[in-house]
Amino acid sequence: MDMTRRPRRLRTDGVRPLVRETELSASDLIAPVFVDATADERVPIETMPGHERVPVAEAVDRVEEVRETGVEAVMVFGIPESKDDRGSRAWAEDGVVQRAVRDIVAETDAYVITDVCLCEYTSHGHCGVLEETAETDPSLTVRNDETLELLSQTAVSHARAGADMVAPSSMTDKMVGAIRGALDEEGHSEIPIMSYAAKFESAFYGPFRDAADGAPAFGDRRHYQMDPANAREARREVALDVEEGADVLMVKPALPYLDIVRQVREDYDHPVAAYNVSGEYAMLHAAAEKGWLDLEEVAAESLLSIKRAGADLILTYFAEDVADRL
Ligand code: PBG
Repeated sequence: MDMTRRPRRLRTDGVRPLVRETELSASDLIAPVFVDATADERVPIETMPGHERVPVAEAVDRVEEVRETGVEAVMVFGIPESKDDRGSRAWAEDGVVQRAVRDIVAETDAYVITDVCLCEYTSHGHCGVLEETAETDPSLTVRNDETLELLSQTAVSHARAGADMVAPSSMTDKMVGAIRGALDEEGHSEIPIMSYAAKFESAFYGPFRDAADGAPAFGDRRHYQMDPANAREARREVALDVEEGADVLMVKPALPYLDIVRQVREDYDHPVAAYNVSGEYAMLHAAAEKGWLDLEEVAAESLLSIKRAGADLILTYFAEDVADRL
């Protein structure tokens, strides 16, 4: 037996830190926060233990809580006071995100990213302007080109409110190009775009749709979000966003799509982000509640895996808990 090669030699406590390939740090993490224009007080999100929707008046406090853990970046989601056909509260100057962002920027040093989408703002819950036949033909739900204008207006309104970065998530063709053009025209050429570049039509978004009240009233999002079966298509999707000027490329969800994270990492030099989504969070919590998993351990291991696969940034509901332990 030749035992000259013993990988275990590098696994003692003393040497392990020296040969560690991947390190997780609070500066990799972005914490999603939910601001609710209809709430007078904080409302716990049942499907996402530990998370709450906060009133606009508490947005600053919520962000300061995040920063106390060492996480400096937040992604702001809004729940509007009212919804309509076209989602007009998404780009209102006095909209929920716009008001919250103005406060957060004025009173904290957080790095503020906004989710640019319409599904939380439309009465039908789809991410854009509806086709007339949407209710009867679920394979054709949203009018792509008309939606671009609304997304652009929304992104510009976020920039005017002081957002540091915008993150379009609607999977509208040409969304990055349209938003880049609109931002530049308004003098916001310094604001980067983090594109939800490869966003899959995933059942792992379930708990979020509860949290942000953004479930489609009928049908699903197959018309615009990607088929979970397609990796080569993800390559084409991401290539378009790169051409259109995306600064950061996001893959979403994260854990079931680590192959896509790795693929984007290998294809591009851009920073890669991964969104560890609500369902990934909820399932670990549910198992931990039953005593079947150690929550702290599996949360940290999940985020480490996402980084090891190639992500530079991670959007995660575990941001505060994991950062607290680092
Ligand atoms: C908006 C949006 C969604 C998520 C982020 N932005 C919902 C969706 O596409 O259905 C999901 C986030 C999560 O599940 O944590 N379009």
